[in-house]
This record gives sequence, C-alpha cells and structure tokens, in this order.
Amino acid sequence: METPKKIKVALLGVGTVGTGVYKILTRQREEMVHKIGAELEIVKILVRDRKKERPGIPAELLTDCFADILDDPEIQIVIEVMGGMEPARTYILEAFRHGKHVVSANKDLIANDGKELFEAAQENHRDFLFEAAVAGGIPIIRPLKQCLAGNNLTEVMGIVNGTTNFILTKMTENGMDFGEALKMAQELGYAEADPTADVEGLDAGRKMAIMASIAFHTRITFSDVYTEGITKISADDIRYAKEMGCDIKLLGLAKNTPEGIEVRVHPMLIPSNHALASVRDSFNAVFVHGDAVGDTMFYGRGAGEMPTGSAVVGDVIDIARNIQYGCNGRIGCTCYKEIPVKKMEDTFNSYFLRIQVQNRPGVLANIAAVFGNNQVSIAQIVQKKAVKGRAELVVITDCVCEKNMRDSVMILEGMSIIQEISSIIRVYTEEE
Ligand code: NAP
Ligand code: HSE
Repeated sequence: METPKKIKVALLGVGTVGTGVYKILTRQREEMVHKIGAELEIVKILVRDRKKERPGIPAELLTDCFADILDDPEIQIVIEVMGGMEPARTYILEAFRHGKHVVSANKDLIANDGKELFEAAQENHRDFLFEAAVAGGIPIIRPLKQCLAGNNLTEVMGIVNGTTNFILTKMTENGMDFGEALKMAQELGYAEADPTADVEGLDAGRKMAIMASIAFHTRITFSDVYTEGITKISADDIRYAKEMGCDIKLLGLAKNTPEGIEVRVHPMLIPSNHALASVRDSFNAVFVHGDAVGDTMFYGRGAGEMPTGSAVVGDVIDIARNIQYGCNGRIGCTCYKEIPVKKMEDTFNSYFLRIQVQNRPGVLANIAAVFGNNQVSIAQIVQKKAVKGRAELVVITDCVCEKNMRDSVMILEGMSIIQEISSIIRVYTEEE
C-alpha cells in the first residue's frame, strides 16, 4: 500500500485545549488516513516554559521559539490555542504571511480583531477557522455559516458561559449564595482564579459578538455588546423568580430588528418550562431562529479539554480536506452588510425590580406615579416582607423602553421613601 501523505501541524500552546487537541489527534491518527486520505502529524508545539511537566506530551516537540514553526515550510496548519491578544494576533498574522492555514479557539482576539484576521487569511489565500471560540464543543460556527446559510437569521440566543451557568444552577438548586457557588466553581476548575471575564459577562459578550457577526453578516465587535454579569444576583432574587415560575440565567441575546442589531448579555428571568431553563451546570446551549428553518437549538459542553479539542480538530480536518483538494478560502468572512447596532437604551424589556422602601401610607402611590410619568407600565406589584418600618416590594413591568426604565430608576433612587433598589433584572417575554 502507498504510504499516505503527511500534513504537518504545529500547536501554539498546550494547556487545557492544546492537550485535548494533542490527545484527539494521537488517538485518531489511523482514522485520519481514511477520513482525509492523509496523516495529520503534530511536529512542533510552542510553549512559554519548556521545563514544565507535561504528562503525555513528548518533550522533543516543544519549542519556546515561534520562528521554529514559522520558518518550517513543511508545517501547513498552525493551531493557536495559547489565548490572549498578543502575541497571538501577531503570530496568526505571521502564519498567514508564511503560507500557513490557522485554526484558533481565541474568542477574545476574534471578537476584537476578527476583521483584520479574516482579511489577512484572504490576502494570503489561507483558511482561518475558529469553531472552538464559541461554546467549546458545540458545533455552532459551522451551522451558522454553512448549514443555515439558506436562511435570513433573525435571532441567536443562548447560555454561552459554563462557569456562570454552574454558579446560577447551584444557587437555584442548592440554595447557595453567589460567593459559595463561585468558590465551588473554582474548586472544580470551572472558574479561573480571576473569574471577572466569566462572572461579569465579558466571556459571553465576546462569544455573542462573534455569533452576531456571522448570523447577521455585519461586523460586530465586543465593544458593541452590552454586558452585565451575575455578581449582584442574590438568593432572594432566585427565590422570588421561582415563586413566579421562572429561573434566572445569564443569557446572550442577538436580534436583527428593523431598527438595527441588538447584542447583549445580562441575567434574565426565563420561564422554568423554557428549553434554556433546563440547561444546567456548566452546559451551554444556543438557540437560533431562521426564516426558513424556524427554531433550532444546539446543546453540549461549552468548555474543557476534550470538548474544546473536538471542535479544534474538526476545523483541522476541514482544512486538511481542503489541502487534499487544492482549495482554500471557500468560507471566509461573511460580513457583507453594515447594519447599525442599536443602543441598549433603545431596547424594550420587561423588568423585575426588588426595592426596599419605607413602610408607610402613600409610598406605593408615589412609586407608581414615577413609573407612570416615565411611560413605564406596571404589570404586577407585590409587598414581600415588612419589618420595623421597612418593606420589600417586587415590581414587574410590562415590556418598556430601557431609557424610560433608567429615567424612572434615577428618580426613585433620589427619593427619601426608597431605601435601596436591590435588583433590576430583565424578564424574558415572547417578543424578546
Ligand atoms: P491555558 O490552559 O492557559 O494554556 C495556554 C497555553 O499557551 C500554555 O501551554 C502556555 O504555555 C501557552 N502560551 C501562552 N502564552 C504564550 C506565549 N506568549 N508564548 C508561548 N506559549 C504561550 O489556556 P486554554 O484554557 O487551553 O485556552 C486556550 C485558548 O482556548 C484561549 O484562547 C481560550 O479562550 C480558548 N478556549 C478555552 C476553552 C477551555 O475550556 N479552556 C474553551 C474554549 C476556548 P505554558 O504551558 O508554557 O505556560
Ligand atoms: N470560561 C468559559 C466558560 C469557557 O465558563 O464557559 C471558555 O470559553
């Protein structure tokens, strides 16, 4: 039998994701010959520290010099799984200039500099694939770009951060407070030592920017995404949400409306019987609506060594098949429109507010007047508890303009009858 051709690959980074990629490519080595008609061989791995213990990773493949990879003409595919903005950005651009195809899992970089990276890939006639950058192991970039390409997509909504979903699940099901649940997430390796990007909604915001760009054919960067995290969600919020038949989830929402594109990440009350409410622990799910297909949902593991490695290897195989057929750039940048992005204050939402007020006659009427004067229609108002002259109110509004809600809250915060506005959380409605 003829010796199969070898396609040589280099890894930039061999941490969580890189190790998963190495393991999958090693155990799939023989299968690859059948799947792509060639062997895929990792020949070099870039790391910062060559002396670090790396069980299962051959030390002879390690280098701390990027030029060893760049200047090796036999390396055709570079897999960037090192993370961060620099030097990852420069290394990817240089790889294209040196005729290499690139696979990346780097959402931070793509959500910011995606345009530049795509243009460099196109100029150099190379492929640039990044399935793992959004929702880890869940196939979503390829479905948006390929399988659903016959649709006019109007909505992408999802739970795209496993750490925050794990924390909210523990708060909901085990009655933990935020701090306890975060500590558990850190102990289990879901949350990083500095959990800011996850708990403040930044990680989810980057993923929403990437998905919205693809779904609506318009370049959306992270700075276009409104983000709000889960640090202020309390056990009381979760309890009251449950009483209303709802769960609180950190949702990413991207909608293409006649007034422009909305892209945001914030906590939301969603009905407990909604499909996204059943997404528990560190799982992710993405819901997509298209004019032809209707509703679709993608579910699975949004992070971790093997799930994320699975998405990266899928991209590597795709590029290897292109190499075998002598083609590239079949599916490059799909941002051929320039739809404006809507300001958050122009969006419409229903709101849940938990307010601590003085417990005396006339307070409710005064609060209702502020909302009424600002075109905020109240759907429900309930007094939850009253102790020593203080009462807790829960207000649910109809679907109203965010600007009107912000104006109301500013006035309420300046009133002596209001002791504290403890929470403002948006509520999912069918119009969302
Ligand atoms: P990680 O565990 O921190 O690993 C990073 C690797 O890159 C390490 O091997 C590190 O080398 C190497 N590295 C970092 N900076 C370098 C530099 N300047 N020069 C040379 N090597 C460098 O990161 P990860 O969790 O695998 O994440 C990698 C990427 O995948 C990130 O973009 C992340 O956002 C994305 N991602 C991760 C997940 C996940 O579940 N972890 C899921 C989806 C996407 P040393 O080992 O020598 O320090
Ligand atoms: N930190 C992310 C999460 C995984 O918790 O979902 C990497 O994208």
